[in-house]
Amino acid sequence: MAQTRRNLNQERGRHGVAHFAIERHLEGDAHSTLVADVRRGLGAYPKTLPAKYLYDERGALLFDAICDQPEYYPTRTEEGMLAEMADEAIRICRPSQLVELGSGASRKTRLLLDALMENGGDEPCYVPVDVSAEMLSRSADAVGRDYPELAVHAIVGDYDRDLRYLPPADRRMVIFLGSTIGNFTEIDARRFLRSLRAQLSRRDWILIGFDLVKPVEVLNAAYNDAAGVTADFNLNVLRVLNRELDANFDLDSFRHDAFFNVGASQIEMHLRSDHRQRVSIPGAGLEIAFASGESVQTEISRKFSKSSAVGLVCGAGFAPRHWYESGDGYFALLLASAAAVV
Ligand code: SAH
Ligand code: TRP
Repeated sequence: MAQTRRNLNQERGRHGVAHFAIERHLEGDAHSTLVADVRRGLGAYPKTLPAKYLYDERGALLFDAICDQPEYYPTRTEEGMLAEMADEAIRICRPSQLVELGSGASRKTRLLLDALMENGGDEPCYVPVDVSAEMLSRSADAVGRDYPELAVHAIVGDYDRDLRYLPPADRRMVIFLGSTIGNFTEIDARRFLRSLRAQLSRRDWILIGFDLVKPVEVLNAAYNDAAGVTADFNLNVLRVLNRELDANFDLDSFRHDAFFNVGASQIEMHLRSDHRQRVSIPGAGLEIAFASGESVQTEISRKFSKSSAVGLVCGAGFAPRHWYESGDGYFALLLASAAAVV
């Protein structure tokens, strides 16, 4: 059972509702979940690790640095699009609550928050949800400080498991930026969106960022930046296992390897063992053998077409309302209503 601690840092707003709160849903079972995930992922062939373990405090900062790399076009492209369409989206959705899944540093979000403060109703609320506790509390604090009229209710949790903790609201707009939807397999994305739909009412809306298929050189460069930040970010997951499970991964003997798989339309990110070696992970009761060149897959990032994105969202019971695409065709934002028939 997830252990829940409520009312951390709570302040009361005008109507006696908490004006700033951070709610944690990870602590009780985080360690046993990690052990189970590592046993399942590294015990299997091919070896995998769930991507959420990339985002410890250091990993979250490295991801933020990835967003500033010149090769990593998604962040600046999506940000430019939000600058253009945020007002319109907020006017269409008129949310009382803006929920953000995988909010990270909540940087691009500010464009929507600016629009929300201008066009939203009385007492708007922002609900960022992220597994990365330190990053979330830092960014929720900063948003609270910069938007004093906005109630902030942050949820440290897994967006694939903890959405039942969303505070009640009249009308929600759920945003899922950065093409994080592409980090699910197709099956998991369908299941995830269906369960998200089940948590929402017909008045609610979603806004999802989709990275689109484009020339393979552009895609490969985005996940292999010259400064090596993405490589550091990927290798950081081994540091997490060394720290949390007493493992003895030698970070110098694994290489970052990310490439676009055209057939599957996805970037696949791996950590590849330079040579034959054994690694022990006492915290998970594992001894793992790696062949020379064998890899652990740490992430996928699927690339969409308009029809694959729209099909996914429709299949989960949402009605697409607007497809916004960047001028270069690199990225799209899909605004959809939770009322299947609008
Ligand atoms: N929205 C930001 C960050 C995207 S990176 C942007 O567009 O730039 C993905 C974010 O999702 C990270 O902040 C990571 O900590 C978070 N995350 C990854 N897996 C998660 C999960 N299962 N539950 C909740 N948050 C998760
Ligand atoms: N949602 C981001 C994407 O698919 C996540 C991401 C970007 C990422 N760069 C990464 C994940 C590097 C792991 C490693 O683009």
